[in-house]
Amino acid sequence: MEHPFGIDFGGTGIKGAPVDLERGDFSHDRVRIDTPRPATPAAVAQVFRTIVESFPASSSPVGVTVPGIVRHGVVHSAANIDPSWMGQDADAIFTAALGREVHVVNDADAAGLAEAEYGAARGRRGQVLVITLGTGIGSAMIWDGELVPNTELGHLELGGAVAEVTTATSAREREDLSWEAWSERLTTYFRHLERLFSPDLFVVGGGVSKSWEKFGHRIEIDTEIIPAKLQNRAGIVGAALVAHRKAGQDD
Ligand code: BGC
Repeated sequence: MEHPFGIDFGGTGIKGAPVDLERGDFSHDRVRIDTPRPATPAAVAQVFRTIVESFPASSSPVGVTVPGIVRHGVVHSAANIDPSWMGQDADAIFTAALGREVHVVNDADAAGLAEAEYGAARGRRGQVLVITLGTGIGSAMIWDGELVPNTELGHLELGGAVAEVTTATSAREREDLSWEAWSERLTTYFRHLERLFSPDLFVVGGGVSKSWEKFGHRIEIDTEIIPAKLQNRAGIVGAALVAHRKAGQDD
């Protein structure tokens, strides 16, 4: 089997690699290109093509993460990306641009799937909430290893504000919060999630998960909470997994 390809479309960089689904890891080193500005679907498609073409010719399907709601290949929200993505059939646009089957998936859903399949939530039954902390807050709800897509728990309102605006990594950086001060906000947020969903496990992803020892123990909740394992590989691995599973299907 040819390895499916995963692309992680982020605010500053677009990264891609073929993924060995047996191991849940890249089968070649990944390629990274700066995200174009503005990051319109057409400009981004051009970068995807360059990345995909830098690997030997292949027709394997491509999965792409998008930081917004994705329903049947169509992007339905664009909180942190160029507004021109709204309502676009990204699957169709990228399939045409790359000449091979492309499936887009919400970035946190991709990361959550990868953690459930290969990482911190592997083999865990019941409900797992994977929360990614970055520019925004992304969420993936996993039930017995299956994804319930588009949960968007970063957009919950807490104390009159959207949770990701006060609690994402970007808020910590923007307000220059200490780890202690930021952890208090995380405690409030995770307590709220606990009350609403009673999960069996929280997995915390996003770039900051590599600094887990600085803040993980300060999040005071009753539910087990652990850092993600795949870190910056989760998006690419999860996207490739989605592409593989959806290949040949209608949406
Ligand atoms: C978006 C989500 C995304 C998250 C992380 C939020 O602002 O609404 O779809 O998963 O940011 O990128």
